[in-house]
Amino acid sequence: MPNLTFRKLHPQFAAEAGPIELRSVTDRAMLDAIRAGMDEYAVLVFRDQPFADDEQLQFAMRFDGVLHSKTGASVVKKNRFGNEALTDISNVDEDGKILAADDRRRAYSLGNRLWHTDASFQDPPGRYSMLSAKVVPPVAADTEFADMRAAYDGLDADLKARLEGLSVHHSIAYSRSVLGFEFSDEEHEKLKGAVHPLVRTNPNTGRRSLYLASHASRILDWPLPEGRLLLRDLMEHATQPQFVYRHSWREGDLVIWDNRSTMHRGRPFADTTHRRELRRVTTLDVEFRPG
Ligand code: OGA
Ligand code: MN
Repeated sequence: MPNLTFRKLHPQFAAEAGPIELRSVTDRAMLDAIRAGMDEYAVLVFRDQPFADDEQLQFAMRFDGVLHSKTGASVVKKNRFGNEALTDISNVDEDGKILAADDRRRAYSLGNRLWHTDASFQDPPGRYSMLSAKVVPPVAADTEFADMRAAYDGLDADLKARLEGLSVHHSIAYSRSVLGFEFSDEEHEKLKGAVHPLVRTNPNTGRRSLYLASHASRILDWPLPEGRLLLRDLMEHATQPQFVYRHSWREGDLVIWDNRSTMHRGRPFADTTHRRELRRVTTLDVEFRPG
């Protein structure tokens, strides 16, 4: 058995994993132990992981196969690393300068402060996201995660039965429009959205979860008001404090989360004053064949 231990960070989910240096992990048994940890905890925190960009991309492919690169951000701004699979989760421009309050790129990234799952507005959507912290501000600039399995388990039986078989349209144009961010017609064309089931089952564990996000705009085959109201109620239910783990970043952290069974959001901080730089790689929810 690989030497990897998990220390729980929350009663329901999320754990700190170690000791390990992910950059050099190629051993299939160890990668499988991490995957098993993901099935159990849905969010794993690894401290002191000094990833170079290329190492982060390579690790993500070894760990879970195909990378997501049709990001919403790619439609709005040029990727400063020249690789759309490496998402820039930062508040700086290509020269490393902090984005001004009225910068359109900043307005776009503020959408990460809404509860969401990564790439649910695409098909296939995202599976695992791996976020590496490079520059962490001296003030709290945390990320919250909500356990959508515990949220599903907490629904009453009648409601669970009503949710059975429902499909939801996810659109980033929708979630951004709620914040007053407008895409041009050309940008819209690239972001048509995608339809996904409202309840998902992890194929390895059989555990069910609510698949929600601020991108979720309507329930197919339901009239708009009822569909939108139900989605709002479910979001409210699923993000109650007992389902939420709050992560305080340290430089060198790599956090992996399962987008099929969690939501997350960035918390506000003085982002026009302090630099915050993280890089994310997300894999696609397609069949995984270990290489
Ligand atoms: C992300 C994200 C939130 C944050 O990386 O996908 O939503 O706190 N991040 O930066
Ligand atoms: Mn995100």
